Order: sequence, then C-alpha cells, then structure tokens
Amino acid sequence: MGKFYLTTPIYYPSDNLHIGHAYTTVVADALARYHRQIGDDTYFLTGADEHGQKIQRRAMAAGKSPQGFVDEIVAGIRELWSLLRISHNDFIRTTEERHARRVQAIFQHLYEQGDIYKSEYEGWYCTPCETFWLERQLVEGKCPDCGEEVEKIREESYFFRLSKYAGRLLEHIETHPEFIQPVSRKNEMVNNFLRPGLEDLCVSRTTFSWGISVPFDTKHVVYVWLDALTNYITALGYPDDPGLFQRYWPADLHLVGKEIVRFHTIIWPIILMALDLPLPRQVFGHGWLVLDGGKISKSKGNVIDPVVLVDKYGLDAVRYYLLREVPFGADGTYSEEALVLRINNDLANDLGNLLHRTVAMIEKFAGGAVPAPAGYEPLDEEVIREADLARQGLAEGLEKLEVSTALSSIFRLVEKTNKYIDTAAPWALNKEGRRERLATVLFTMAESLRITAVLLVPFLVETPQKIWNQLGLNGDPVALKPETGAVWGGFPGGTRVRKGRPLFPRIELKPAEAKGKEKERETAPQKPEITIEEFARLDLRVARVLKAERIKGTDKLLQLIVTLGGEERRLVAGIGQHYEPSSLVGREIVVAVNLKPAKIRGVLSQGMLLAASNGEELALVVPEKPVGEGAGVK
Ligand code: MSP
Repeated sequence: MGKFYLTTPIYYPSDNLHIGHAYTTVVADALARYHRQIGDDTYFLTGADEHGQKIQRRAMAAGKSPQGFVDEIVAGIRELWSLLRISHNDFIRTTEERHARRVQAIFQHLYEQGDIYKSEYEGWYCTPCETFWLERQLVEGKCPDCGEEVEKIREESYFFRLSKYAGRLLEHIETHPEFIQPVSRKNEMVNNFLRPGLEDLCVSRTTFSWGISVPFDTKHVVYVWLDALTNYITALGYPDDPGLFQRYWPADLHLVGKEIVRFHTIIWPIILMALDLPLPRQVFGHGWLVLDGGKISKSKGNVIDPVVLVDKYGLDAVRYYLLREVPFGADGTYSEEALVLRINNDLANDLGNLLHRTVAMIEKFAGGAVPAPAGYEPLDEEVIREADLARQGLAEGLEKLEVSTALSSIFRLVEKTNKYIDTAAPWALNKEGRRERLATVLFTMAESLRITAVLLVPFLVETPQKIWNQLGLNGDPVALKPETGAVWGGFPGGTRVRKGRPLFPRIELKPAEAKGKEKERETAPQKPEITIEEFARLDLRVARVLKAERIKGTDKLLQLIVTLGGEERRLVAGIGQHYEPSSLVGREIVVAVNLKPAKIRGVLSQGMLLAASNGEELALVVPEKPVGEGAGVK
C-alpha cells in the first residue's frame, strides 16, 4: 500500500470534448479505481486549460466573453465526466483564483531566482497548439505538429532558462527508464529535442490579454503552457498550502496523449527542477484514437460524441470498448461496428450469458441456493487456475498500464467458465442424480462469476454490482481487494441467487455492418433418422423479425411478426425466457413455413421458428451471414 497521484491533461474548453478526450479520462479513471481498490491513498486530478489565444479567438468568434464561453463548455465537460462516472478527486480550472494566484507566485519566484529574464521574441507561433517554433523547425512553412498555418510574432517577452537545465534533464531521463513511457517516446524526446540542444522558452505574451498576468509586469500574460502545466501542483496547494502537496507530490503518473509528451517531459520537469521539486515518477504518452479517414477533428466534421454513444449503448459498454479495444499506448481505429461487436461478443454472449446460465441453473437444479462444493476434479481445477491467472493478469497488466491486456485476462476466465459449463454439463448431472458433482459444478460457476465481478471493479461501474446482486451476494464488490476478495473459495455458503435482467442486451447489426463472425454457442442436437424425401417436405425459409412482443399472461411465449420477403407471417414461439423481444427485431431467423397453422393462447401461429436447445440453454438457429428474407434453407 502506498499513495498514488495521477492526472489527465487538462483539456481546452474550446469545443465540447469528443471520444478521444473521453478515452484518456476513462483509462485514468480505471487506474484510479484500481489503486483505490488495492488500498493505495489515491488522488486523481483532471481539469480544464482555459487561457490562451486560441480560446480568446474562439470566444470572440462566438460573440461571447472568454469567461462566459469557457464557463459554458466547462459545465458540459463536468457533465460528461459525471455521465461516464469519472471518479476524480478534484477538477481544476486555470481560471480559478486558487490557480492564478499560485502561477503568479511561481513566476515571481523563478524571475527572482534569475531563471526567467526579459528579452525580445521573434519567431513563429502556432495558435491551435499554443506553441512557439523557430523558422528551421517549420515544415513547409507550417506547424510541424498539427500542419496548420503559423503566425510571425515579434514582441517583448519573458524567457525561461530551459538551456540551463538540459544536461540535468537528460541525465534524469537516462537514469530513470520508467520516466517516459512507452520507451519509443523517450527515444523521440532524447534524439529529436534534447540532444540537438534546448533553446530558452518564451513564457509570456503581450499581444492578447486572456491569461494570467505577470505579477510585476502586467501588460504580459503568462504563456498558456506554463500556466497549464503547473496545474498539477497548484491543485495540490503549492506553494502556500502544503497539506495535499506533501501527501501526494510527486505525481506517480501523468497520463497524456502522445502529441503533448514533449511539454510534459521537457518543459514541465525543468520547471520542477528550477523550483527544486521532485519530478513525476512517470509520464505515459498514449496513442490516438483515429477514424478510418484519419484524425478526429472538428474541422473534418467527424467528431464522435461520447454522450450519444452512452445513450445508445449504455455506460459500461462504452467504457469497456474504450478500455479493451486498443492496446494502450498504440494508435487505434475507432469504429461503431467494432463497439457493437465487443458488446455482442464479450459482454452479451460471454459475460451476460454466463451470468444468465449460472443463475438459471442454480435455480433449476439447486432450488436457487448456491451449493457448497464437494471436492474438485481436474476440470474444476482448470477454472480455479484461470481465476488465479485473471487476478495476476489484472495486477501485472495495470502495473505496466497494459489496460487492455488486464481486461482480456479477466475475459479469458469468463470464456473458460462458459466452456467448462458445456463440458461439465450440469443438466446431465442433474438428470443422472449426481448431486455432489452437480454441487461442485454449480459452485464453480458462481464462484468464477463472483471473482469476475471483483476483478471488473476498476473498469466497469454498474456491471460488478449487477452480477453481485444476481448472485445474491451482500455488500459491495468495490469494497473488496483483489488479492483477498478475488481468491477462490470466498463464496458464502447458503447464498440464494436472484434472477435479474440480462446484463447486456445484444445489439443487432444491420446486414451491411454484420461483417464480423459472431460466436454461436455449441449445441448437440439428436435427431431421429428420416429419408431425404421426408426432409424435402419441409419448407424452411429465412425470415426477418419485424416486431416482437410478449404474449400476456405467460413468460414463455413471444408473438413475432416476420417477413419472408413480400409476405408477412405471425409466429408464436416459446423463447420468452431466453430472449428479450427487443433483441430479436431486425434479426434473420429460420422458419418452417408450411407447418399447419395452429392457435396458441388464442393467437394464430403461421409457422415455427427453429431453435437449438440442450434442455437448458436455447439458441435461435440463424443464417451464419445475412442472406436476405425469403431465402430457402436446405
Ligand atoms: N490543454 C492541453 C493539455 C494541457 S495539460 C497540462 C491540451 N488539451 S486538449 O484538449 O487538446 O487535450 C489533449 C488530450 O486529449 C490529448 O493529450 C489526449 O490525452 C486526449 N485526446 C484528444 N484527442 C484524442 C484522440 N483522438 N485520441 C486519444 N486521445 C485524444 O492538449
């Protein structure tokens, strides 16, 4: 147990934030939740970087005062973090008095110490990046970072002696391999910026006013990056209020996108050296989420709004996707189709189905009470081993910030347990009256899920409790540490399960989107022998479900309206305990269309849909890829 201080970049409130910003913040949130769970004294900071020329111009263009403009956007950012259940301890705004006052004290101190001096700046400025560039650094006359136009500026400025500290910084980087991660970013910083030599940095501007004024020369405003970077210590009270600062500084992790690693590993550590403060333990520069067509940007009009996604797919589904899809560090492509596949495969089919089967079988075969295990066989021990591996994979993965790897080790346990059920076949044990073996198998299923819930706590914010409730457990999985609470054998005896709604309803892909091959659970149908002529009498066709609803007064029966391509039919199907009606709409199913119509519960059923069942589980028989309604089935 120790302390853990982690930060996100403070975001520019120049526009509403998009999925890329949510990505950094959700990853940081998972790490914060994990460190709290393992008992670290954790402090998680995020905020808004509100000054600078870019924001001033955006506000003017919107016909608003800079303060009015940022206030509105920051309110939206706070709402977004609350929607995503971000568990930050503080949200710092650089327009707050507590911050401005402290930035002024820092600037004054560096000036008095001789590390800031007055001179004249002549060079280029990129407003979107708020960065100074030398003529020789430009690429075809444009900003080497973002490719936008730069402006020539010439003004009286204060300068910060970066050059004085370059040698010390290089030495620190070389002797602390964990300081800049991933290592490729370290090499880039050393080779492209530090080795060629650092120039002193311009740290004030006079040609616009939206910023913190230099205390002893008020026609200057403090350069926005100096203003912004110091948020990591001003939020802790530095220099005048030592409480939080002494407790949490130095930061354990600054999580940033790769494009701002340079500011965090060159300018920021040198500011800290000049202030005689310890450096952060690690700056991690992660990759970008990009879209098929390239960078996410307002000007391209391809911004993905996380609020819309949460609304459409649910909070934990969006969090899961962000944390799981891309190996953390690398660039990754965002696509809604990949998000839907993750939901359907990992969350609905694997995790949701595991919970559903487990609770249903405990109800059916054990009267709803989780039995005590009666000795383990090698098959069970494989699940126990996988649960240990999942716990270790979580700790090792998050220690190395391999967030996706950590999550996949948990989902390997889920997958293993599903396969275990197929092999252990509790329904057969029940039929054969093998009560002891059945007890062990049912316990193993429930215990695997209990452990899964504890291990998912850092990542998902609703699902662990939902699993907990359906398993009938008391208390809160959030309160359990993985090393003690996610250890095999902790399931309290005599617990009664409580069946609930499906964890993640399956999402139907439109045919054009349904490229990914869906996993289907194995079934073992046994059919009596028939002749080919007998088989040919059956008219089987593909139908698409247009409407589905429950038939009043029964759990089992659904009424479906399907189309066969031109012709609509009404079907009554006994699948109500296995499928939510809404999850069926739009799906292609297989229907016996020449079956003699029959009235069931007063509803005329004009055909029968095909489903596979092993006596316990039931799965619709569906074409493996979209073939269109009306297609024949042979
Ligand atoms: N205000 C500065 C940071 C100051 S920190 C002292 C800034 N703000 S920003 O609003 O532009 O946010 C940049 C950060 O948002 C990136 O570093 C990254 O963490 C996140 N992302 C923005 N777009 C992103 C993607 N498309 N993909 C991944 N992360 C993205 O820079």
